[in-house]
Amino acid sequence: MHISIDQAATLLLMGHVVAVPTETVYGLAASLYDPNAIAQIFTVKGRPSNNPLIIHLASAEQLNDYVHTLPPYTEKLTAAFWPGPMTLVLPIISEKISTSVRAGLPTAAFRVPHFPITHELIKKTGPLVMPSANLSGKPSATSATHVETDFGADFPVVDGGDCINGVESTILYWNEHQWVIIRLGAIAPEVFKPILGYIPNVVGAESSSQPICPGQLYRHYAPRATLILTPDMPIYVDTIIGFDDRVYPHGKRLLSMGLSSDPFIATHRLYAILRQLDEEGILHAWIDIDIPDTGLWLTFKERIYKAAQAK
Ligand code: TXA
Ligand code: MG
Repeated sequence: MHISIDQAATLLLMGHVVAVPTETVYGLAASLYDPNAIAQIFTVKGRPSNNPLIIHLASAEQLNDYVHTLPPYTEKLTAAFWPGPMTLVLPIISEKISTSVRAGLPTAAFRVPHFPITHELIKKTGPLVMPSANLSGKPSATSATHVETDFGADFPVVDGGDCINGVESTILYWNEHQWVIIRLGAIAPEVFKPILGYIPNVVGAESSSQPICPGQLYRHYAPRATLILTPDMPIYVDTIIGFDDRVYPHGKRLLSMGLSSDPFIATHRLYAILRQLDEEGILHAWIDIDIPDTGLWLTFKERIYKAAQAK
């Protein structure tokens, strides 16, 4: 059910959960100060309670209400990338944020989105927690239709069209020596170099005994179809997820990721394509992953590998 920004604000302030567009993916929003609505998010999504939520703020200044120490370079990062698709995991004043939001951790994740609808809404409601608006284990929703597919036609959603980035925010964490990326996302690692002086390392959730990005451990981004990543396409495959400027065997259907020179468009389309596989009951699809290991392609490949492994 499509609702206006004002209706969304009213529902949120009454303690309801609504879906909201952001520049990255649609979010399932609840007020940071409403424990019942927050509990509802976990139920509606089927999300494990040990997977914490991102707190969405209207401005970087609001961090001062929650964070007890800003790690080095925090202000430089927020000045450069907020509003925008960067999330920072920061040490917090623990009484200010309920344990269910942060899954009992001494840190919380924060982001200031730049999509105008999201920004306007947060200004009306105050801080919102928002996981991606998909059932746990499904690709994130990048359109209002995706939200309705997962949660039903009656679920309240603000329709903001297709998300500009189409992939989640990049999450950074200060590991006592330097910033590291704990989830690849819409901002490529190299983009942080002019601000930090180095390219932050990408840390896998499995690399430490204490996972620093719990969500990375869960089954993710999985279509029902089997995704085939081999360099050569098996003969039995009918569907190719590939690029408009490449030549593939005749008689196969191409789901286009745009041009092989443009990781932005490929990433923007990826989740919609994964969902299309399910909608059309496609059983096997071969994906052309002959792409570089740099920039936004890293995010793109990581999501593809996860989608392929998750079965
Ligand atoms: O682009 C995005 O980030 C979207 C939009 C709606 O803003 N949100 C999003 O939320 O992707 P979600 O819940 O699907 O993913 C949040 C990730 C999870 O992997 C979670 O484990 C991690 O952030 N996270 C949240 N709080 C954390 C914390 N205190 N420490 C480490 N990881 C945290
Ligand atoms: Mg998610």
